Amino acid sequence: MTDAASRYRALHARSIHDPEGFWREAAGAIDWFGEGERVFDPSRGVYGRWFPGWTTNVCHNAVDRHVADGRGAQPAIFYDSPVAGARRTVTYAELQDEVSLLAGVLRDFGVGKGDRVVIYMPMIPEAVFAMLACARIGAVHSVVFGGFAAAELAGRIEDAQPKVVLSASCGIEPSRVVQYKPLLDLALTMARHRPDACLIFQRPQAEANLVADRDHDWAARREAARAAGTRAACVPVEATDPLYILYTSGTTGKPKGVVRDSGGYMVALRWSMEGLYDVRPGEVYWSASDIGWVVGHSYIIYAPLLTGCTTVLYEGKPVGTPDAGAFWRVIEEYKVAALFTAPTALRAIKKEDPEGRLMQRYDRASLRTLFLAGERADPDTVEWAKARLGVPVVDHWWQTETGWAIAGNPVGLGALPIRVGSTGVPMPGYQVDILDEGGHKLPPDRMGSIAIRLPLPPGCLPTLWRQDERFRESYLIDFPGYYKTADAGFADAAGQLFIMGRTDDIINVAGHRLSTGGMEEVLAAHADVAECAVVGIHDAVKGEVPCGFVVLKAGVGRSPADIEAEIVALVRARIGPVAAFRLAITVNRLPKTRSGKILRGTMKKIADAEPWTMPATIDDPAALDEIATALTARGLARDPAA
Ligand code: COA
Ligand code: AMP
Repeated sequence: MTDAASRYRALHARSIHDPEGFWREAAGAIDWFGEGERVFDPSRGVYGRWFPGWTTNVCHNAVDRHVADGRGAQPAIFYDSPVAGARRTVTYAELQDEVSLLAGVLRDFGVGKGDRVVIYMPMIPEAVFAMLACARIGAVHSVVFGGFAAAELAGRIEDAQPKVVLSASCGIEPSRVVQYKPLLDLALTMARHRPDACLIFQRPQAEANLVADRDHDWAARREAARAAGTRAACVPVEATDPLYILYTSGTTGKPKGVVRDSGGYMVALRWSMEGLYDVRPGEVYWSASDIGWVVGHSYIIYAPLLTGCTTVLYEGKPVGTPDAGAFWRVIEEYKVAALFTAPTALRAIKKEDPEGRLMQRYDRASLRTLFLAGERADPDTVEWAKARLGVPVVDHWWQTETGWAIAGNPVGLGALPIRVGSTGVPMPGYQVDILDEGGHKLPPDRMGSIAIRLPLPPGCLPTLWRQDERFRESYLIDFPGYYKTADAGFADAAGQLFIMGRTDDIINVAGHRLSTGGMEEVLAAHADVAECAVVGIHDAVKGEVPCGFVVLKAGVGRSPADIEAEIVALVRARIGPVAAFRLAITVNRLPKTRSGKILRGTMKKIADAEPWTMPATIDDPAALDEIATALTARGLARDPAA
């Protein structure tokens, strides 16, 4: 479709010039218990709040209203687990039954409106029930991804202070069963906060030992609730009340608790399903992510269910469970209309099945569009997928903080012609500018910091959990009047955005967001390490992987190889396997500027064999050669003089 034929330009312009009118209209797709007078109140919260005084319930909108509307027999969830050898279809009526029971169990534990519940669970239907059960009674869930270590879980428990923790005995990775319960037990010894109770879902692959007076068996509680007829109804909440807290990597080891409200989030997600993803009620939508990430929150659970779609809950990998045809099997089996995944998943498939032979074994006629996000989509992978799948491949850009796409190609409004490498155009309500260091707007095609004019549209974070000041400092102070995305890039004359990388120390490993600063804190804690620097280096499948350089303390007599192995184990133990930290390299010194700033950017360029220039302020140029030599010795290095 040509640019002029799409409804996008007029619609986006209206969302900017008449935001209240635009979002009031979009709010018509949501059931409200009461409507407020205003759609946006600039005087509330840090930069204003959406839908103040409006009351609703997210679980009602995602579940009960569909049952009332006659969708009770329609599948809400297709659970497919090649790793557990299990499948289950959950209809909307069954979902209502399960969620109202579990909500009753939570209420019996004393959980009420505003109380926090930490959910540390694998990709099983009970995890979805858990999130919706919280929403049902107005409790605030905080899901922690299973690939994090106990210390990360502990930090989140301490910050969120949950009344109850919901967990399962194990997760299943292709190579091993990951016992969650020992990690949870350890986390609870580390955290200063104690939940009143833990509810544990036992999986047959590894049964957990339950701690007396604290742990409860999920199935037994559920049955008891059923026998007693204990169910909880949907509780009215303010649209501005938090639905969840989702922790994401910040520039230090202490993660940021991104707060999501209830009303604005529903309005934005519901709009996006038709406007951006072109998916309608009754269709099957699959986000091949994990419920521990924002993509999982928004597009495995809330957006598809709010829309009355069937969502696919896939507990497996793109490759190895059992092969690189897994995604195409799922598409055939469940007649998936739209797939959303990270480019890394496609790169993994492409590596194993470059000709797409496995793909051809399956009927993919239902698939209309493939959406990619989470990290930069390399044009090779996009072209590979487009050619073999024969459907449009749409890259779109967003962050945990925004909860939905900042930019994309609005397929539902009539897809725009998109330049390869671009993540599309701003979605409704987003006014995106490229700024120089002084905060001045840059003209088209000039690289700069990408910033979003305040107010952020509905769905985006109103603040960080109990940290308004950190929210201001992290996002609002650098460019007054704007939200700083911490991504760098440029826009072309047609407003299409190109995201080129982060301006902070965040790296993206297999679509997972990680802080190199957080890893440096772990490395620095090793008794033999004097100094360290972690940079993200190019990886053909994962996009980036972390690489740690360490300088040992004077007089350390032990073998550097032993210390490097300890450091790798330490990162795994403190942050988790998800960090994919496998590379620690001992060097005699780190390259620095004369003022002592470590030249991480140049180190990364050397490792990635990208052209680099000697920084004018470097203290000793030979230090960079030493980095190149150390990388060469690991088979990574490249020509230092390039
Ligand atoms: N629970 C416990 N451990 C987990 C886990 C979980 N939920 N998820 C990942 N891990 C572990 C893995 O087992 C692996 O451990 P290992 O070091 O012992 O092998 C480690 O964390 C790294 O995992 P991952 O990054 O997933 O790498 P992988 O090599 O297992 O798989 C891909 C690579 C590309 C197949 C995989 O990353 C993938 O499917 N990515 C899709 C991207 C995605 O879902 N992104 C979410 C945002 S959209
Ligand atoms: P997360 O909060 O985990 O969703 O990670 C958000 C970050 O991932 C963004 O700030 C970007 O750096 C990166 N990212 C997400 N989507 C894209 C994309 N489509 N292209 C490039 N980078 C992306």
